[in-house]
Amino acid sequence: MEFLIKSGNPEKQRTACLIVGIFEPRRLTPAAKAIDNISKKFLSNLIRRGDIEGKSGQSLLLHNVPGLLADRVLLIGCGKERDLTDSQYRTIITNSTKELKETGAMEAVSYLSELNVRNRDYYWKIRQTIEATEGTLYQFNEYKTKNKPNRRQIKKLVLTVPTRKELPDGELAAKHAMAIVKGIKLTRDLANRPANICTPVHLAEQAKNLGKLHRSIKVTVLDEDDMTKLGMNTLLSVTRGSVEPAKLITLEYKGAKKEVKPIVLVGKGVTFDTGGISIKPAAAMDEMKYDMCGAASVLGTLLAVAEIELPINVVGVIPTTENMPDGRATKPGDIIKSMSGQTVEILNTDAEGRLILCDALTYSERFHPQVVIDIATLTGACVIALGNHASGLLSNHNPLARDLLNAGESSGDRAWQLPLWEEYNKQLDSPFADMANIGGREAGTITAACFLSRFAEKYHWAHLDIAGTAWTSGKNKGATGRPVPLLTQYLLDKSK
Ligand code: BES
Ligand code: MN
Ligand code: ZN
Repeated sequence: MEFLIKSGNPEKQRTACLIVGIFEPRRLTPAAKAIDNISKKFLSNLIRRGDIEGKSGQSLLLHNVPGLLADRVLLIGCGKERDLTDSQYRTIITNSTKELKETGAMEAVSYLSELNVRNRDYYWKIRQTIEATEGTLYQFNEYKTKNKPNRRQIKKLVLTVPTRKELPDGELAAKHAMAIVKGIKLTRDLANRPANICTPVHLAEQAKNLGKLHRSIKVTVLDEDDMTKLGMNTLLSVTRGSVEPAKLITLEYKGAKKEVKPIVLVGKGVTFDTGGISIKPAAAMDEMKYDMCGAASVLGTLLAVAEIELPINVVGVIPTTENMPDGRATKPGDIIKSMSGQTVEILNTDAEGRLILCDALTYSERFHPQVVIDIATLTGACVIALGNHASGLLSNHNPLARDLLNAGESSGDRAWQLPLWEEYNKQLDSPFADMANIGGREAGTITAACFLSRFAEKYHWAHLDIAGTAWTSGKNKGATGRPVPLLTQYLLDKSK
């Protein structure tokens, strides 16, 4: 879909649909007032009759409003003016998109960006509008053979700013948003693809496609023999039960001089997690096709960064494998030597994410990183702790954690920090090896991060547990594209 930024009054717009807000109780926003004035109080009369209160979720579609050049006016309830938070703003945009889709208008001019959101400027409002609109319109139809009836689709949305002075900010926001939208779409598509299609080889091909699309991205793929030579035994221990070959994908984005130390993003790419010999229960096991969402978010973020042409260096590292039970599969109690030289007693083969990530973290040392951030659907415990509202964040460097928390706040893709204290680390003690791969039922998200931290001692590191945020379950099952907005915002902030 196309987005344009313009300044200009509502009464002058020749369009299929004008979108304007109404506050609760029955209060006109500035654009609604302008329409009211030119239409001889058409809106205030209607509101007085009680057709729309202005509550969030309400809407009213009007035709033939006198004095206008627009075919339709779509009134959107915005709730109470003083309650307009970041998330309420996004809700308003989502509601307006759903209503607009039903009108039959193929283009529209929206005045919702004039709503005041505390501490937010036009750059923020335009970006959020584009991201929320595209997020609402997203569908995954790759495997539907019967195309939906060809309803007239919305093709163009004009977003308004008050004067020409705000145009450059608005246009920059649109450029950033369109890049992020592309990244999110790639992430969601890859994640939604079933595990019989989206295998480690498929992810490697997708990475190579990114390298073909953007000359700024160089892609290399290591196979199991390469990994054996590097001593990546904990990673290889996970793939033993699978017939699909494991891969280690590296994407190097170069937007700055080669001396500039890169930010390394490591994404968990388990394309299907059965649990292995410590097999999972059957209920909802299909959702374990989403266990590669960390990997998908690394690919999506790199796409966004390359589209914006950010002046920084970023490396994506993706360890990718299936986790399957089999005659050759790793067994509980097996002891494996990781690439770092540390030994691990695998007490539960379902705690496989940390086993592939730890070798990828060791491998990341070779890029002399400024920071390393890993992204993983790592623990069910994180879903219990934070639900689907925030990703779990753990870090060995507080300034890095701060930066990520801030990027989460401003992008609306939030994270929440959990502690990495010494006391939790003890839960990983093993009588036979340097550590066990599980730390008991308590504080599962933290002990998983403690495990990873032992392989991230040589650099500043943060871990994002996206088990609760990467996809939604139930009747609206599907990937969310998170944390592409958070990560891209972090990189945008870094490149300032
Ligand atoms: N991929 C899962 C984590 C997961 C489970 C994410 C459910 C989202 C929903 C991970 O590999 C896993 O199985 N973790 C185990 C760890 C446990 C064995 C210590 C878990 O969370 O149960
Ligand atoms: Mn698992
Ligand atoms: Zn897993």
